[in-house]
Amino acid sequence: MNTTPPTDCPAWRKLQAHAESWRDARLGELFAGDPQRARTMRAEAPGLRLDYSRQRLGALTLRLLAQLADERGFEQWRSALFAGEKINSTEDRAAGHIAARRQAPVAGLPDPGRYARIVNLGTGGSDLGPRLLADAFGAHAPDVRFVANLDPLELERAIAGAQADSTLVVVASKTFTTQETLANANALRQKGFRNFVAATANPGAARRFGATEVFEFSESVGGRYSVWSAASLAAQIAIGAEAFAEFLAGGREMDEHFRAEPLLENVPALMALVGAWNVNFLGMHAHAVLPYCHRLRLLPAYLQQLEMESNGKRVDREGRPAGYATCPVVFGAEGTPSQHSFHQLLHQGTAPVAVDFIDAAVNDVLTANLRAQANALALGTGDAALPPHRQHPGNRPSSILTFRSCTPRDLGRLIALYEHKVFAQGVLWNINSFDQWGVELGKQLAQRIMEGR
Ligand code: F6P
Repeated sequence: MNTTPPTDCPAWRKLQAHAESWRDARLGELFAGDPQRARTMRAEAPGLRLDYSRQRLGALTLRLLAQLADERGFEQWRSALFAGEKINSTEDRAAGHIAARRQAPVAGLPDPGRYARIVNLGTGGSDLGPRLLADAFGAHAPDVRFVANLDPLELERAIAGAQADSTLVVVASKTFTTQETLANANALRQKGFRNFVAATANPGAARRFGATEVFEFSESVGGRYSVWSAASLAAQIAIGAEAFAEFLAGGREMDEHFRAEPLLENVPALMALVGAWNVNFLGMHAHAVLPYCHRLRLLPAYLQQLEMESNGKRVDREGRPAGYATCPVVFGAEGTPSQHSFHQLLHQGTAPVAVDFIDAAVNDVLTANLRAQANALALGTGDAALPPHRQHPGNRPSSILTFRSCTPRDLGRLIALYEHKVFAQGVLWNINSFDQWGVELGKQLAQRIMEGR
């Protein structure tokens, strides 16, 4: 397997030289000069289309990026991922999320009819995924709440009006050692709550805590990749077994696309290549994800963990300092509210931000707004008569992901798409996307501070 620095690859140097020729290129001129651009710079995956015509790149850029992926050993790394090889080298583990979505969903889910309230205690991947799923597709009953914070207010709000007897508490923690989650679980026990079940890869600790039922998942499934497993138990109750099976099926469809399609027709791989082009060769270190869909309002928070905890790394697979940029700052919010918040900076700010717009086919007004934003970013005003403060320089890159609908299956496709994009970027950057040692020091220091050491 190739673990050489990407900067040693001939394609990297070619891309650096090639980027020079893109400094003054204008998206408006590219569209004018090539009427086919919007039609050629797109790719399809199950249920969706990627339009990357508003990115600042051309056919040669794509060829060089594909050459880079080749030189990085992308195909071998992808085969290793799918074969369940131990590609998470610092933890000596496979990355088990693809296997998780091939498994049958959790059997013997607690009967939601017995409970008026379900409270999920978990943080990071044990919160963001199930919270997103339940928020997107949950029914009104049962009332499922999520608690991730050590601030007791979140717990108080989640149990307001709830009776201990008719409340099911799901303690979701892969390690079953996470301070926030255990503090909240103990607080509920002290308040007289008794119906505890656990979703974990550490069943012994869960039983010692007193969980009456333990739903186990494999240690090889990373926290931020665990939405496919028992870690999303509360969401599975909220959306129902059938919808969750659809979600898994969507993930599997994207696996097959990522595994089989050639690089430049492969949507996750293309998004990874375009992202690396923006970060490493055009110097764009921020990336916004804007779903124009209220159901997907929690997606940006989910992707923040997925992308930044996976690829926010400063050393490569061999422990060498990365002499190149890795994961950009990822942020976002649902459109259109985002337009009245931070889009000012996207259009006229000095920090360049690349954007993924997600059109989930909600209605024509949302689609019109999304396309207007993408065009304004790409083309600007082009009216020299306007005063400076009203000028939009344009030339700001974005992609549009268009779905035909927004179902649990679509969300499965979407999340698996970003997982594979993150994996492919890890290969380009020669980093392990499946560990997260950067979060450990803060945990230890907090412990020491609490113990007065
Ligand atoms: O501290 C980071 C982290 O380990 C994440 O990777 C994980 O999703 C989260 O904490 C919660 O961990 P656990 O599921 O083990 O409680």
